[in-house]
Amino acid sequence: MDKLIITGGKQLSGELRISGAKNSALPILAGALLSETPVTIGNIPHLHDITTTMELLGRMGVQLIIDEKMNIEIDTSTIKNFEAPYELVRTMRASILVLGPLLARFGSAHVSLPGGCAIGTRPVDIHLDGLAKMGADIKVEGGYILAQAKRLKGANLVMEKITVTGTENLLMAATLAKGKTVIENAAKEPEVSDLAHFLNKMGAKITGIGTDILEIDGVDQLGAKDLHYNILPDRIETGTYLVAAAMTGGNITVKNTRPSILDAVLEKLKEAGAEISTGDDWIKLDMKGKKPQAVSVRTAPYPAFPTDMQAQFTAMNAIAEGVAVITETVFENRFMHVQEMQRMGADIQLESHNAICKGVEKLAAAPVMATDLRASASLVLAGLVAEGDTMVDRIYHIDRGYDHIEEKLAQLGAKIRRIPN
Ligand code: EPZ
Repeated sequence: MDKLIITGGKQLSGELRISGAKNSALPILAGALLSETPVTIGNIPHLHDITTTMELLGRMGVQLIIDEKMNIEIDTSTIKNFEAPYELVRTMRASILVLGPLLARFGSAHVSLPGGCAIGTRPVDIHLDGLAKMGADIKVEGGYILAQAKRLKGANLVMEKITVTGTENLLMAATLAKGKTVIENAAKEPEVSDLAHFLNKMGAKITGIGTDILEIDGVDQLGAKDLHYNILPDRIETGTYLVAAAMTGGNITVKNTRPSILDAVLEKLKEAGAEISTGDDWIKLDMKGKKPQAVSVRTAPYPAFPTDMQAQFTAMNAIAEGVAVITETVFENRFMHVQEMQRMGADIQLESHNAICKGVEKLAAAPVMATDLRASASLVLAGLVAEGDTMVDRIYHIDRGYDHIEEKLAQLGAKIRRIPN
C-alpha cells in the first residue's frame, strides 16, 4: 500500500483550486440512472470512489464516456442488470445510492448491504423503511437487499434520524413514484441540495430544496436533451486545506470553492485566530505566522459543524494554544485518529464522545496509520507540524476522497512525497 512521507515545519502559502465534491458526485452519478436520455456531469473529482462508481455502473451495462476534463457522459439505454455486488459495495458504502434509482426506474434492485466501517455500524434501516413505505417489497438475504416494486407510490416519510444518503436515496426514488412524497426531517447538506437541483434539471418536481421538508411530485419519466450538470465544489476538501494553513501559521487562497456553504467552519477558524476574507468562489486565510488558538467544536448535521471536519480540527487543537473539547455527535467511533496523534506526542484525552485537547508546543514525527478518509487526512495535517518525517500508511483511504493531495500540499510549500508500495 502507498505511503505518504511528510517533513514537518513548512509554513503553507500560495493558492490552490478545489475539486468537485465527492459527496455530491456519488449521489448524482447514481441519479443519472433515472434518466431516459444521456446526461453529462462536469467538475467530477479525480478520486478512487469515482472510479469505483464508474465500475459499478459499467458492470450494470451503463455506458460511460469520460474526457480529459473529468466530464462523464452517462447513457443508461444499454443497462442489462440491476446489481451492486458485495466486492464493490464493501469498498464504497455509498454504492447503496443506486438502490433508490434502480427501484424507481426499473422496479428491481439487488444491492449488497454496505456493512459497517471504521467510524461506525452505518446501518441503512432508514433507507429500507422509507422504500417499503413507498410500496417496495424489500427482502434481505445473504447480505444482499432484494428490492422489487411494480411502481413506487408517493408517501409521507418522517426520517427518524437525519441521514444524508438516506435522504438522497428516498429523494431519488420519489422522483418517479406515483403521486406526492413528503420527506420530513430531511438532511440539508449542500450535497443533498446539489442532487435535488440536478434531478430538477432532468425534469423532477422537487420543492423545499435546502430545507428539512422536501416535497416531490412524482413524474412518469426523467430526462433532458444535452443536459450538462457541474458538481458543486468540495466544502470538506476546502476546509481541510484551510486547517492545514492555520496549523502551520500560513497564508493561503483557496479558489473554485463556495464560502457560503462553510459558515460553521469559517467561524471556528476565525475563533482560532485566522484572518478570513471571501469572495463568491474564493477564501483567503492568513494566520500572520501565529499559532492557532484551541477551539471547541460540536459536530451535528448541516448547517452545524460538519463531522467530516472533526478530525482535522482535532489535529489543529493538538498544537494550538490552550485547551478545547471536540464533541462528536454523529458517529459512534470517529476518534481513531486520536491514538495515532497521541503517538506523535499529542495531549488528547478521550471521554465518551469528547476529545479533550491540550495544545503542545510540537508534535514528533512517527509512523502512523490511517483508518478512515478524514482521519487519514488529519494525520497528514499533523505531519505538517511535526518535528521530522511522519509516515502515514494505508493512504488508500485518502485517495478515496482527496484529489491529488500531495500535489496540492506541495503546491502550498509542504514537503511531502508518496512512496508507492
Ligand atoms: C454521509 O454518510 C457522507 N457520505 C459521510 O461522509 C458523512 O460523514 C455523513 O453523511 C454525515 O454527514 C456520503 O455522502 C457519501 P448518515 P451517510 O446516513 O449518509 C445513522 C466522508 O468522509 N443512520 O448521514 O452514510 C448513521 O449510523 C463520509 O466523506 C442510521 O441509523 O451518513 C449515523 O449515525 C464519511 N440509519 C447517522 O445516521 C440509516 O439508515 C448519520 O449518518 C442511515 C443512517
